[in-house]
Amino acid sequence: MKTQAFFRTRLGSLYVGRCEELIKDRAISRYLGKVQLIFTSPPFPLNRKKAYGNRTGKEYLEWIQSLAPSLRDFLTPDGSIVIEMGNAWEKGRPVQSTLPTETLLEFQKKGNLNLCQEFTYYNSARLPSPIQWVNVERIRVKDATTKIWWMAPSERPKASNRNVLKEYSHAQKELIRKRRYNAGKRPSEYNIGATSFAVDNGGAIPPNLIEIANTTSSGPYQTFCRDSGIPLHPARMPVALAEFFIKFLTDEGDIVFDPFGGSNTTGWAAEQLKRRWITMEFSKEYAAASIARFSKEKAEAAFRNHGGNGDQC
Ligand SMILES: C[S@@+](CC[C@H](N)C(=O)[O-])C[C@H]1O[C@@H](n2cnc3c(N)ncnc32)[C@H](O)[C@@H]1O
Repeated sequence: MKTQAFFRTRLGSLYVGRCEELIKDRAISRYLGKVQLIFTSPPFPLNRKKAYGNRTGKEYLEWIQSLAPSLRDFLTPDGSIVIEMGNAWEKGRPVQSTLPTETLLEFQKKGNLNLCQEFTYYNSARLPSPIQWVNVERIRVKDATTKIWWMAPSERPKASNRNVLKEYSHAQKELIRKRRYNAGKRPSEYNIGATSFAVDNGGAIPPNLIEIANTTSSGPYQTFCRDSGIPLHPARMPVALAEFFIKFLTDEGDIVFDPFGGSNTTGWAAEQLKRRWITMEFSKEYAAASIARFSKEKAEAAFRNHGGNGDQC
């Protein structure tokens, strides 16, 4: 079988369907061994059903980990797979579920992957939740982070932190300007030289804590959804998050693949950064709306021709 793409751009293709089936399709299997980065946020392992539908508990764990070997087969020898996984809470109890961590661990083991580094994404604009424990009983603090595991078949996948340097802080800029650094021993016993840290390397090396306020309420996708009365994807990630890993782990022309595309944040970020991309999304409605990131007219045509029938798993 050779499935047709639902939408194409100069650099990418969006496919509608279940990724576990699509990856066996001839249209997709030609990318085996050619993908530089799989960047994805799978449906979260909730203990209750959400709008876009999630498997729960052990069933979820088994499903996600079963995908690990086949997804790994798509990677180039120095490719990476980055998975964002939200937190989950036990139903009706102020207890955080270990399922997301177990899922990542099982995925890493089943895929025979190295954990290159764990990142934490902190959404500083996240509203307080879980409401009962945070706002009502005040016995937990706000759950505002998600885990991001960067894994790879190789211990040294392609990566350069030079591509993701942050602007220097004001203090660091001053030090560089004066070419002086507060040298000497740090509490960690690390001995810092007088000038080595006062050099301008084009920016500061970022930490593995990524802080982005996920507040974007304007943009072609949001406007299209609002004007057409279509619900915004409830779990879309900030474009800046996808951009960070795409810049860090790929070069222009490389292929980026998101098997759980949602509103196609990954494809959009990849296109802006001149990377090729493949996205899969089970819901035709989410897929059709995501086209608005690229073209309002083509999104309207997708709804006219295929309908956003709300098929969701
Ligand atoms: C957490 S969301 C991804 C959000 C996305 N990163 C974004 O920024 O919009 C997970 C998505 O996976 C989709 N999905 C669930 N099961 C799927 C499957 N078997 N194959 C493909 N997509 C699936 C859901 O419909 C949902 O849109």
